[in-house]
Amino acid sequence: MNQPAMEGLRLNVPAYVRHNRLVAWVAEIAALTEARDVYWCDGSQEEYDRLCQQLVDAGTMKRLNSAKRPNSYLACSDPSDVARVEDRTFICSETQEGAGPTNNWMAPAEMRALLQTGENALFRGAMRGRTLYVVPFSMGPLGSPISQLGVELSDSAYVAVNMRIMTRMGKRVLELLGEDGEFVPCVHTVGAPLAEGQKDVTWPCNKTKYIVHYPATREIWSYGSGYGGNALLGKKCFALRIASNMGRDEGWLAEHMLVLGVTDPAGKKHHVAAAFPSACGKTNFAMLVPPAGFEGWKVTTIGDDIAWIKPTADGKLRAINPEAGYFGVAPGTNEKTNPNCMASLQRDVIFTNVALTDDGDVWWEGMTDEAPAHLIDWQGQDWTPQIAKETGRKAAHPNARFTVAATNNPVLDPEWDNPEGVVIDAFIFGGRRSTTVPLVTEARDWVEGVYMAATMGSETTAAAAGQQGVVRRDPFAMLPFAGYHMGAYFKHWLNLGAKLQEQGAKLPGIFCVNWFRKGADGKFTWPGYGENMRVLQWILGRVEGTAPKGEEHLFGTTPRYEDLNWTGLNFSADQFKSVTSIDREAWLHEVKLHDELFELLKSHLPAELAEAKARLEKHLTA
Ligand code: GTP
Ligand code: SPV
Ligand code: MN
Repeated sequence: MNQPAMEGLRLNVPAYVRHNRLVAWVAEIAALTEARDVYWCDGSQEEYDRLCQQLVDAGTMKRLNSAKRPNSYLACSDPSDVARVEDRTFICSETQEGAGPTNNWMAPAEMRALLQTGENALFRGAMRGRTLYVVPFSMGPLGSPISQLGVELSDSAYVAVNMRIMTRMGKRVLELLGEDGEFVPCVHTVGAPLAEGQKDVTWPCNKTKYIVHYPATREIWSYGSGYGGNALLGKKCFALRIASNMGRDEGWLAEHMLVLGVTDPAGKKHHVAAAFPSACGKTNFAMLVPPAGFEGWKVTTIGDDIAWIKPTADGKLRAINPEAGYFGVAPGTNEKTNPNCMASLQRDVIFTNVALTDDGDVWWEGMTDEAPAHLIDWQGQDWTPQIAKETGRKAAHPNARFTVAATNNPVLDPEWDNPEGVVIDAFIFGGRRSTTVPLVTEARDWVEGVYMAATMGSETTAAAAGQQGVVRRDPFAMLPFAGYHMGAYFKHWLNLGAKLQEQGAKLPGIFCVNWFRKGADGKFTWPGYGENMRVLQWILGRVEGTAPKGEEHLFGTTPRYEDLNWTGLNFSADQFKSVTSIDREAWLHEVKLHDELFELLKSHLPAELAEAKARLEKHLTA
C-alpha cells in the first residue's frame, strides 16, 4: 500500500462491519485513489437528508419549493455528461471473441494498466480531495435466492443518494454480507481530483470516460462520468452486463425489460415482461392506465427497466425487478400520457437536467400543453417560449430524468418485493420504428420469437450520447447491455426455450410491437400510452387461447381490425391498416439489415436463426 497516501487517511469502518476482505478492498481503493476520507453509507433517511443538504451547499442540487414538491431536488449536470456513453463502454473478457463484435473490448491486463496499475493509471489519485463513499447494495429483495449483492465505492455524494433510491442500500446489506459473503465490487470516480484549497465545480466529471466490466472476475470500474447508467453501477453495469454473464453460466436471464401485472375484470392476473430499447416506452407501459372501454382492468408495476428471470423446477419462468426505484425519462411525461408516473413524482424525487420554474418547481417539454412564460433551463440560463422558438433550445435536456422510489408508485404491484418473483406469461419486444414494423405480431413458436427479438431494429434516442433517430439493430433491446457475445446470448435464449419444452412446460408467448409508426404528416398514427392496452388485451387473449390469431404473414401473425377491442376509441380500419401494413420493398431492405447483423455475429450465430431467416426470405420472394 502506498504509505504517504495512507497518511492521515482513516477508513472509519463501522463496528458492524465484519467482512475483512471488504475492508481490505476499501483500504486498497482508498490508497489507490488517494481519497481524502472514507464514509460508509448506512442507508438511513437521516443520512440521505444530510448528503442532499451537502449537495445543495455544494451547488450540485437545488431544493425545490417544499409546498409544491416536498423533499425534492433538482441537479443539473455538466453539458458534456448527460447520457450513457456507449463508445466508452468496455467488456474486458479474456478474449475479444468473448465480448463479441457488438461490444468494445480491451485485454484485461491492458485495461488494468490503464486504469489501476500503470504509472499514470487513471484511478491513481483520482479521488484526491474527495470523500470515498462506501455504498453497499442489494439488487433484488434482501435475502432473495435470485438477488445479488454489490458494493460501490464512489467519490460522488450524488451517486450515493441516487443509489439509496434505486437499490436496497446500506447497513442491512453489510449485515447480510456477514464475514465473507460474495459481492460484486464496483469502483466509481468522477475523475476530478481536487488540489489543496481548490474550489469544486457543481458537477465534477472528466472528458475522458471509461465504463469497464471484467466478466471473469465480476468487477466494474467506471471513470469520468457522474450520470445515470455510467455512475449508478447497480443498474446497467451490474444488473445487465455482469448479470447477463452470471445468467449464462447459471441458466437464467438478465434482461432490459419492464415487468407488469395485468388483472382482468374477472380477477384473473397475468404477468408480462417487455423489452423496448432505452427511451422507447418501458416506464410508460409498466404504469399503463387502461382507457375508456376497459373498465375493471388494472395494470400494476413490478419493474420498469430490468428483469432477472429464472426457470424453476415446475417449468415456469419467475421474474424479479432487481431495482428499488425508477430512473425515468422526464420529457413527454404528463397527466395524460402517464398519470401514475406524475403521481409518483409528487414528492421525494431527485430530478436531473429538467428546468426550474420561477416558483421553485420543475418543468420539461411535454409536461403541459403550454410552457411557463419563464424558466431557468437545465443549463442555468433564462428560457422563454420565445427564446425556444428562435433558437430551438430545450428547457429540459431530452435525456432529463427523475429518480424516485418504487414505493411512490400508486400502482406498484403487491408482489413487486416478493423474493420468489412472478410467473411470466408473455414476452413483448418493441422498437421505435416510424416505418416498416407493424403494431403487433405474434411469433408462431419460440424460435421464431427469438428470431424476431434478435433482429429487432430501433431508432436511436437521447438516452445514449451520439446521433439520434438512426435505425440500428438492437437485439432484445440489449445491444448496449449484453455482457458477452450477442450470438451466444441468442443461443442462451434458444437453449432455455428448448429446456422448458423438454420439461413439457407451456412456454410464454413471444410478441413484437411498434407504437411508433408515423403517417405522411410526420405524426405518430397510433395513439399509444393507455391505448396500448388494446394490444395487451389481444396478447393476453392469445396466451389464453381465447383471441383469434389474425392473419399469417411474413413471419408471425397479426390481428385483423375486428380482432381488437375498439370501444372508447375512434380509430378507423384505414388507420389500423396504416400501422399494420407490410411493405414488401421495405421488408426486402429490412432483411438485408438482418443479414448484416447475422454476418457480424456469424462465429456464434445459432443455426436455428439462420434457418428462420431462410424461411422468411422464401416467403418474401414467393
Ligand atoms: P429508459 O428508461 O431509457 O430505458 O426508457 P423507457 O423505455 O422506460 O421509456 P419511457 O417509458 O420513459 O418513454 C420514453 C419516451 O417515449 C417518453 O418521452 C414517452 O413519453 C415516450 N413514449 C412512451 N410510450 C409511448 C407510446 O406508446 N407512444 C408514443 N408516441 N410515445 C411513447
Ligand atoms: C437507459 O438508457 O436504458 C436507462 C437510463 O434506463 S441509464 O440508467 O442511464 O442507463
Ligand atoms: Mn433502460
